[in-house]
Formats: sequence, C-alpha cells, structure tokens
Amino acid sequence: MFKAVLFDLDGVITDTAEYHYQAWKKLGEEIGIVMDRTFNEQLKGVSREDSLTLLLTHGNRLSDFSDEQFAALAARKNEYYVEMIQKVSPKDVYSGILDLLKALRADQIKICLASASKNGPFLLERMALTDYFDGIADPASVGAGKPAPDIFIKAAEIVGVSPKECIGIEDAQAGIQAIKASGALAIGVGTQEQLGTDIPIVSSTKELTHAYLKNCWEIFRQ
Ligand code: BG6
Ligand code: MG
Repeated sequence: MFKAVLFDLDGVITDTAEYHYQAWKKLGEEIGIVMDRTFNEQLKGVSREDSLTLLLTHGNRLSDFSDEQFAALAARKNEYYVEMIQKVSPKDVYSGILDLLKALRADQIKICLASASKNGPFLLERMALTDYFDGIADPASVGAGKPAPDIFIKAAEIVGVSPKECIGIEDAQAGIQAIKASGALAIGVGTQEQLGTDIPIVSSTKELTHAYLKNCWEIFRQ
C-alpha cells in the first residue's frame, strides 16, 4: 500500500488556480496579450517564470522585454495574485480535502506539499492546514519545475518515502507528467480531456476519499 500522498495545491486543495488565471489574464491585457482558458491549461502547474515565458511567447512578445523588465512583469503578476489570496480562509478548502487529510493521518500515511507555488506555505496557513502536512517541498530548492519530476522527488524525500510508494494528486497536465516521471502514482482532478485517459481521474475532490485512493493503488499498482 502507498506510504505517502504528495499534494499539488492550486486547483487541488483550493480554487487558487482560478486566481492565477485571473492574474495572468490581467497582466496579459496590460501588455496587449489575449489569453483564454484553453491556453491557461498550459500554464497550470508551471512556475511563475516559465508561465511568463509561455505567455510572452503566446503573444509573440518574448524578445520585447529585457531581463529586468521580465522580472518586473513576473513581480507584477505576483502582486495581483497575492492581493487576490489575502482573503482565502478555511472555508475555501475544497470539499473532501480536510476529511482526506484527517483519514491519511489517522492511517499514518505521510503528507507532503509538492506545489510549484512560492505562495504555498502562506495559503496552507490561511486555510489552517499547515499542521496536517509532514513537509512542504520548496520549489525554489529544486532544479527544474513541473513537468520535470524534481518537486515530487523532493517531496517524497522530505517524508522519507520512495516516490514509487507515493500517490501524487494534480489538476495540471504538467503536474501529471511530473508525477509519472517521478515514479509515483498519479491521480488527476479534472477531465480526461485535460489530463489523459491512462490515469484515475476525479471530477470533484469530494471523490478523493481514503478508500478511493486505496482502490486506485490496488488497480493501478498491481
Ligand atoms: C502552480 C500554479 O501551483 O504554481 C501555477 O499552478 C503557478 O499557475 C505556479 O504559476 C507558481 O506560483 P507562484 O505563486 O510561485 O507564482
Ligand atoms: Mg495545480
């Protein structure tokens, strides 16, 4: 049976994926780049800097900005985002997540955060979830961002479990690729259209019960 669960945050624990989208859209509008939700799927799970590179490439404007201007744009997007998440509270935790965290702890299964976001620790605090986590993998401490497996490998290491004995939960294409590459078992939150047909997928976090995870492990890890 699995020994640890590695959680993505934005779009898995709470709806902050929407705030990231709103903040990128606002920044894009200010510099004349239009983005929609379909394009946004490519940004999910991807680091702030890599997201900005994708956005500027999408608008054919990557070469228009110096390194300094690039950094200023990334900081501006983060300001918009940070402003939006100030009011996040325990009420914003997605249905089923708190019960899952409690059930995993009761069964002595390790829990670690594997988010690409530097705002992860702040958000866990805002949602009063920090104490449920045995560790938080710092995205600044890993070499390559998602879709590279580094953050999931780091998270598994923090809780002292081999990635092969972990489940990773993700809502992003890049995140699912990262989990698969780490050797952990991926569970997706979203649709087969977004995340593929070869992994277990739930349309709502309500379905993410301890029993469901055990069932996935038995079926997909035989
Ligand atoms: C991921 C989000 O969790 O974190 C991405 O899915 C975001 O949309 C990335 O770009 C980095 O977040 P932050 O808060 O460090 O800019
Ligand atoms: Mg996510």
